[in-house]
Amino acid sequence: MIITSAEFVISAAGPAQYPPAELPEVAFAGRSNVGKSSLINTLVNRRRLVKTSATPGRTQLLNFFRVNAACHFVDLPGFGYARAPAHIRKKWGPMIAHYLATRETLKCVVLIMDVRRTPGQEEKWLMADLEQSGIPPVPVLTKIDKLSKTRRIQQRRTAAQALGVAPEALTLFSSKTREGLAELWRILEGFIEAAP
Ligand code: GTP
Ligand code: MG
Repeated sequence: MIITSAEFVISAAGPAQYPPAELPEVAFAGRSNVGKSSLINTLVNRRRLVKTSATPGRTQLLNFFRVNAACHFVDLPGFGYARAPAHIRKKWGPMIAHYLATRETLKCVVLIMDVRRTPGQEEKWLMADLEQSGIPPVPVLTKIDKLSKTRRIQQRRTAAQALGVAPEALTLFSSKTREGLAELWRILEGFIEAAP
């Protein structure tokens, strides 16, 4: 995909603020600090379209971006960050669940996981939620630059088993080295270009 434009649209706390459902949409979900915002920046080839941070839990609303005037990318707040203030933590679950269950233009959800960590309950819940809503998950293991080639393959097998999918269903990715970028775009294009 050649990126001609990528721009921030809006930060939404709820449906009243979602942009009109006029473009195919891809959402990005995952544990806090896993590298969601970095992955989006890598996909759109921009260093700082989406704010990244060494402090977990910085993305607390649904952030919508318009890419090539052809689709929306939605950076979802990270789950599993225990140190976020309780009033904010309580809002995350319903905010994301409502979005996933109701957004008509949502084509797929990229589920981003750290390649060094075995997927846990939250990832499985999200997979189950998506299945129930009929939205295809696109599981990605990121930060592969932190592991040797052998360890990546081992971890991919472990993660696949935990998620109940085939190892080949997991895309290996790095925002640092851009490995996996072409493969991930190929998958996303398939969903974005599919008939509405
Ligand atoms: P929240 O919005 O807080 O949930 O975090 P996030 O999932 O958006 O993560 P973010 O992209 O902000 O990245 C978190 C940290 O991981 C930053 O310090 C990034 O530089 C680092 N990081 C992200 N992706 C990679 C990667 O592929 N490789 C390496 N080595 N570091 C990465
Ligand atoms: Mg983020």
